[in-house]
Formats: sequence, C-alpha cells, structure tokens
Amino acid sequence: MMNEQFSIKGKVAVITGAGGVLGGSIAKSFIKAGARVVAMDIRQENLDVRVKELTADGGEAIGIVGNVLDIASLENAANQIVEKWGRIDILLNIAGGNVPGATLSDDQSFFDMKIADWEKVTNLNMNGTVYPSYVFGRIMAEQKSGSIINISSMAALQSMTRVPGYSAAKAAVANFTQWLAMEMAMKYGDKVRVNAVAPGFFIGDQNRAVLINPDGSLTDRSQKVLANTPMRRFGDINELNGAVQFLCSDAASFITGVVLPVDGGFSMFSGV
Ligand SMILES: NC(=O)c1ccc[n+]([C@@H]2O[C@H](COP(=O)([O-])OP(=O)(O)OC[C@H]3O[C@@H](n4cnc5c(N)ncnc54)[C@H](O)[C@@H]3O)[C@@H](O)[C@H]2O)c1
Repeated sequence: MMNEQFSIKGKVAVITGAGGVLGGSIAKSFIKAGARVVAMDIRQENLDVRVKELTADGGEAIGIVGNVLDIASLENAANQIVEKWGRIDILLNIAGGNVPGATLSDDQSFFDMKIADWEKVTNLNMNGTVYPSYVFGRIMAEQKSGSIINISSMAALQSMTRVPGYSAAKAAVANFTQWLAMEMAMKYGDKVRVNAVAPGFFIGDQNRAVLINPDGSLTDRSQKVLANTPMRRFGDINELNGAVQFLCSDAASFITGVVLPVDGGFSMFSGV
C-alpha cells in the first residue's frame, strides 16, 4: 500500500486542459489515486472522451467546458464545483502550449513574427495560468487550504530557438508560481501551496509537428533535444503524474514556490 503521506484520496482536483495529452494522463492517474476530478477543457469533443475514460471504473469525475482566458466561464465552473463537492483542494493549470503561428520556422526571424500570434501564445500560457488561479485560488484562500500546480517549460530556463512568445510566457509562469506561493503562505497560511513542474520534452498535440516528421522520423530539432538529454529519450506522458501528485500531497507540506524539472536531465546538462 502506498505511504499515506502521498495520498490525494477524496481531494477535489480541477484540471484545466484535461482533454489534452498531459492533462489526460494526470487526470487518469488522479482517478486511480482516488481523487475527485473536474476535467476542464475548451474543446467539448476532447472532454466527452476523457470523462468516459475517467468514470469507466467507477471514478468520480465531471467534465466542464470552460475557457481559461474567460473569468466568467471560470466563475461559472467554480460555482458548479462548489455546489457539487463543496470545496476545491487542487488546481492543475495544464491548459497551454505552443500556438502554430507563434512558432517561427527555421527561415523566419523575430521580425517576421506576427504580433497577433505573440499575443495569442503569451495570453494562453501566462493569463491561462493566472486567471484560473485568481478564480479557484480565491476559494482555496477562503478554505485556508489548497494546492496549485502550474506548468512551466525548459524554454523558460534557457533560450530556445523559434519559440519567443511561448518561452517568455512560461518564464512568467515560473515567476508567478513564486509570487503566488509567497502571497498565499504569508496571507492565508501554510496550507495553501503553489508549485510548478517544468516538463522536458514529451510528445503532445501542440508540439508534435516540431518534433516528429509526418513519416514518423525525428526532426532535426528533436535530434538536438535528445542529444542534450542525458537519458537520451523523450518523456513518457505518464512520467509527470508522480511528480504532480507528490507536490499536491502532504508529503510536500513544506514545499512551496518550487519549479521542479521533470526532464531526463535536460536542464542540468551542459551539453558537453
Ligand atoms: N508536451 C510537452 O513536451 C510539454 C513540455 C513542456 C510544457 N508543456 C505544457 O504542458 C501543458 C499541456 O501540454 P500537452 O502537450 O498536453 O498539450 P495538448 O495540446 O495535448 O493539451 C492542451 C489542452 O488544453 C486545451 N486548451 C487550449 N486552450 C484552452 C483554453 N483557452 N481553455 C481551456 N482549455 C484549453 C486544449 O483543448 C487541449 O486539450 C501545456 O501547458 C504545455 O505548454 C508540454
């Protein structure tokens, strides 16, 4: 049996982007651990499939179509959740990712970037974390307990070609994680914690095209990624689950404001 310290059994967990690759995997692992899951996504079709999977073996899950960039949509979700389960213990801000036009091609420079695309990608990745934290975090502050997990990126730590907006927004997510962790601990007590994970390279829908060619072979970029990853592989989509559960559990009761790399060693390797 699992050490009780790591348990999230019975906790009410809101997962944004739960229709996607990483959010889906984490949602399934949370159901296995006995959490009550609110799967949230902007795409109804993603959500329908997900909720069926989550409830198939008697798991407690509901799906809410919602937009992380729309405060009214988030408040509406928060009301539904509090009405159903009375509280919100965990918020996983997973919705995000690259926006096609915001990723420069090899022959484009910064000056070819469209400002509208910069705004889209920074909005989704920065405000898409801040707004749900503002709405659901308020409930945690009132409860004086809760755990928020944000998703930063390797692109936030060191410069990475082609993704200026995504990188800047994920760096903002890391900074906001520290800021909100401080705010919550100092104003609402030591049981409201805010942390982040910084995934290395996992294949998701939003980054598949830059890492895998249409014929299934690795792109030049993904060969560089693997050369700079001491473990010499991509992450398996299930490999974020344990880190996220740990950070949400009592085992991490004195941990707040950290950005935990889950990256096969990418961020610690000099490349030499
Ligand atoms: N895959 C990787 O290697 C990797 C690496 C670092 C960070 N990340 C981050 O992990 C998170 C999840 O990535 P993924 O690979 O699972 O992506 P994904 O594209 O598979 O999933 C993202 C989900 O978010 C949803 N979404 C998009 N906009 C939304 C909105 N406005 N409101 C609500 N939902 C919205 C999408 O419909 C989708 O289901 C992202 O924040 C991404 O930046 C991924």
